[in-house]
Amino acid sequence: MKKKRSVLLDQYIQLLKNGNVVAFPTETVYGLGADAWNPDAVKKVFETKGRPADNPLIVHISNTNEVEDFADTISEDARKLMEAFWPGPLTLIFRKKPEVLDIITAGLDTVALRWPKHPLSQDLIARAGPLVAPSANSSGKPSPTKPKHVKEDFGDDFPVIEAGTTDIGLESTVLDVTEIPYRIYRPGAVSAKEIEKVSGQKTKLATPSSKDTAARSPGTKYSHYSPEAKVQWLPKDASIDPSKELYLLHSRSAHPTGENIIHYKGDYSRMARELYDRFRQADHLGMTSVFVESFSDEQRKESIVQALQNRIDKAVG
Ligand code: TXA
Ligand code: MG
Repeated sequence: MKKKRSVLLDQYIQLLKNGNVVAFPTETVYGLGADAWNPDAVKKVFETKGRPADNPLIVHISNTNEVEDFADTISEDARKLMEAFWPGPLTLIFRKKPEVLDIITAGLDTVALRWPKHPLSQDLIARAGPLVAPSANSSGKPSPTKPKHVKEDFGDDFPVIEAGTTDIGLESTVLDVTEIPYRIYRPGAVSAKEIEKVSGQKTKLATPSSKDTAARSPGTKYSHYSPEAKVQWLPKDASIDPSKELYLLHSRSAHPTGENIIHYKGDYSRMARELYDRFRQADHLGMTSVFVESFSDEQRKESIVQALQNRIDKAVG
């Protein structure tokens, strides 16, 4: 099995080594990979996505030793996080070594690192990495959770290592460990509470609109994850008319039924896994709006709900 997999990967590894971009699965979303030490390859990532040059990329590695090639200082508390959550959906931001390419960090003095969990990504990075990898979507579109999403954005012939639907469906938690309190720029499957427990450091969710956040994580200022259909929060008692709209519910008891009314029945992980695919489906079906049932404060205590709230807020704009 292992052998078969590596043979399958050979052609993609060659492409990456030759300075090309290749999309590959991670446990969060599909990434658009390129050799992190090749400036021309990294440039292709920005060009392919139409990504603004001031939005830095995450470097994907395949073991903890590689952190030292990129990060200048690694605190004991950060090491505890690496031990506890890697490989997995946590991106850590460190002060960078001078040799890290400026194009990756958009001129910041920090670098974002992540060791993803998906076995194919691990093999690929071990053999062709380290790889920069933003989500493999055109800038501003919903992140890809299926190979067909990548092809929708970049064309049928685009090189994608296909491995079905990704497991989590929302991007990694992005955590800045260069200052205390620690700051989460993007909530994901790993929560502030778990981070505090493991690291012993106070951890807060950054306010996306603040000047400080915009300076330290420039990507937070861009709108993201948006389909053509208008995404809107559905207030608690608002009525439902599914003729030209898609509804994503999770808790309501009384509601009409129909093809365009999806009810997750409290399964927020499934909702997270499907969210971006539903956004894209809404466009294929020519829907004018996607209504998403609002979350309560109680529901927002769960990290995956915080991540959903963040992505839907951004899509609402
Ligand atoms: O789950 C994920 O993280 C996926 C998969 C493919 O690994 N990748 C991903 O990359 O979501 P991207 O580029 O779509 O999002 C990376 C986020 C952006 O918001 C970017 O601004 C932020 O991380 N970021 C990257 N480097 C940073 C840095 N040095 N300081 C602050 N924020 C940074
Ligand atoms: Mg992205």
